[in-house]
Amino acid sequence: MKIRLFVVFILAFIAMGSCENGNGSGKSIDSGMDPFIDELLDRMTLEEKIGQLNLVSVGFDVTGPRVSQQVEEKIANGQVGGVFNSYTTVAVRKLQELAVNESRLGIPLIFGFDVVHGHRTVFPVPLGLAATWDPEAIEETARIAALEASLEGLNWTFSPMVDIARDPRWGRICEGSGEDAWYGSLVARAMVRGYQGEDLSGPHTVMACVKHFALYGAAEAGRDYNNVDMSLRRMREVYLPPYRAAVEEGAGSVMTSFNDISGIPASANRWLLTDLLRKEWGFTGFVVTDYTTLEELIPFGVAADKKEAARLALEAGVDMDMVSEVLVSHTGELVEEGILKEERVDAACRRILEAKYRLGLFDDPFRYVKGKESGEIELSPGHREYARQMARKSMILLKNDHHTLPLDEQSSIALIGPLVYSRRDVQGNWRGGGRNRDAVTVEEGVRSMAGEKARILTAQGANITDDTLMLFKLNAHGGEIDYHDPATLLREALGVASRADVIVAVVGESQGMSGESASRSGIGIPGSQKTLLKALKKTGKPLVIVLMNGRPLTLEWEQAHADAILETWFAGTEAGNAIADVLFGAYNPSGKLTVTFPRNVGQIPLYYNHHNIGRPYAGDILDKFKSQYLDAPNDPLYPFGYGLSYTTFSMGDPVLGTTRLVEGDTLSVSVEVQNTGPVPGEEVVQLYVQDLVASVTRPVKELKGFKRILLDPGESETVTFTLRADDLRFYNRDMDFVTEPGDFKIFTGPDSRNVKEAIFTLVRE
Ligand code: NOJ
Repeated sequence: MKIRLFVVFILAFIAMGSCENGNGSGKSIDSGMDPFIDELLDRMTLEEKIGQLNLVSVGFDVTGPRVSQQVEEKIANGQVGGVFNSYTTVAVRKLQELAVNESRLGIPLIFGFDVVHGHRTVFPVPLGLAATWDPEAIEETARIAALEASLEGLNWTFSPMVDIARDPRWGRICEGSGEDAWYGSLVARAMVRGYQGEDLSGPHTVMACVKHFALYGAAEAGRDYNNVDMSLRRMREVYLPPYRAAVEEGAGSVMTSFNDISGIPASANRWLLTDLLRKEWGFTGFVVTDYTTLEELIPFGVAADKKEAARLALEAGVDMDMVSEVLVSHTGELVEEGILKEERVDAACRRILEAKYRLGLFDDPFRYVKGKESGEIELSPGHREYARQMARKSMILLKNDHHTLPLDEQSSIALIGPLVYSRRDVQGNWRGGGRNRDAVTVEEGVRSMAGEKARILTAQGANITDDTLMLFKLNAHGGEIDYHDPATLLREALGVASRADVIVAVVGESQGMSGESASRSGIGIPGSQKTLLKALKKTGKPLVIVLMNGRPLTLEWEQAHADAILETWFAGTEAGNAIADVLFGAYNPSGKLTVTFPRNVGQIPLYYNHHNIGRPYAGDILDKFKSQYLDAPNDPLYPFGYGLSYTTFSMGDPVLGTTRLVEGDTLSVSVEVQNTGPVPGEEVVQLYVQDLVASVTRPVKELKGFKRILLDPGESETVTFTLRADDLRFYNRDMDFVTEPGDFKIFTGPDSRNVKEAIFTLVRE
């Protein structure tokens, strides 16, 4: 063992005694950490400190415009603090050995990756996970992801993605939890807990990275990387709460976003990264930029060159530079010329070292690459089973006329569509270490569940898209999409359909049509597949549409013409089995939307919790001077919270414990729910609140509670929520977070549109 490594080990040993509670952003401060880091910092040269701020990409995945060069040499020279896109014990060990054995101080590297919805076992995309309305279960998916990732050398995940999004044109809407801040905050917390566990130094935890800070989901016109200009009120009310929740939960790192915020790019935004994040929210972890955002300060036109970009970023509060190598190249000059104080470099370096300390890397740099168990644990039957459960729970029954679903197991079923055979698409984007060979296609799932009983016929029916430009772009970005003669595909499909009792059309988006840099200006089912659907409809046979997609789609035609529609998102490794569970009724769907489905693109942005306006439209088309369209309704096709079941539920009126809530007391709201249909089913009972008169305009409804219950046929249950005055706080005219006494409406129901109401008064005594 080299001397320098020995020194690090000795220091680590001194510190080990107090290694517990090394959680996240310093929820509990480890008393051994400070002296250890002080001592280490003292021995580091300026160059070595700056090296820690450098994050490079190399390995198995390319997740940005370019990969880093001469990585091994830089690691050996102490010019790298962390590596991402590299995993497996062999690959990680190799690079870690370089850092530990070759660099002067032997400081271990941190290894990151986009483990966003599972690693080897892929769960539904986050928008699908959110549709389960089950934060505890989502937390478990993160725990499993952390376990699998940590067994392959990873100790840092670029997740959770907590960007609120109200614009389905934005392809990354599938990476978050939808449009609601309150619900998004619950999920953000759950995921941080799942990744980081009780203690980051525990064996199978990984550090979370909350992204993309901030407001990335509000890109203008839904076009990725576009500008964001927003009032402080909207930021605080709608967009910021999930980031804050994740920080409060102890997330160890935060990633800046690609966008500017009212004129100042996030990675150069001191208000955002220092005043808000550190001073107001108390964040003590480290801030990493997104991919090459520092050099992008130049095209943004706020930095003339890379040196200025480095200065702006460090002054704003950036600690680590992802891929740009702007900090590693220019920070030294800035300090030497007296433009930047060395303390700023010390502070950034310290935070990165602290993260490594919390991860136990100084204790054992190779603790994540022992990896013996990984073969048995990754994709274990238990993990697969959990993925299947989450996948079916994430699915949403959008329509089901004449009990078309569940399918009759004795029938002849035509399974038609370009997504029937896909192993790649079912996993969605950011599939971590997900491999095609491990994923279950719809065809496989349906065949294995149908067994000998049903006759399954299949056909591709259409290309994903016949739009040659889109196809070219998708394939240029690694889409692997084949193209066949559309007329032949259609002929085959109609032949298959003619021999079946029911048609199940598996249509939607390819994996690459949602995700980063996958904005769409039209969000319908692509024309090629629409032609297929119309032809299938003409056969007169019952038509079930199984949707695969990562964003809300416009589905007016489908809603009008299909007999049943099942939203399955990109459901992950076990997609095919989970879809079969739902199609055949082995599982009764219970997912609910966490994002609004508009009727058409012109309605966007459309979200349930919009503010009051002075001329609201109440349905009278003769009343000209109201806020409405000449050519479309105002309301969505499927509202926030919506989702059907194979059974039916009745819900009573909300019954209030009191109509006078005194501040400091609680208000109980009870609703009687009954399963009025033929099979057991789960319902998500939702509670919304409206502040009727306030000092500023307020949302027409805000989600404040939900409960998921399971009822047998005929069974009833009284669901009770508890509200506190604190739940009614908002930002008043002075941007103080307060309650204002007065009247409030309570709404309860199975979704945000179909609600029953009651009124109470908040009183201050
Ligand atoms: C760019 C993406 O915006 C971000 O979400 C991701 O974590 C990084 N690339 C790293 O892959």
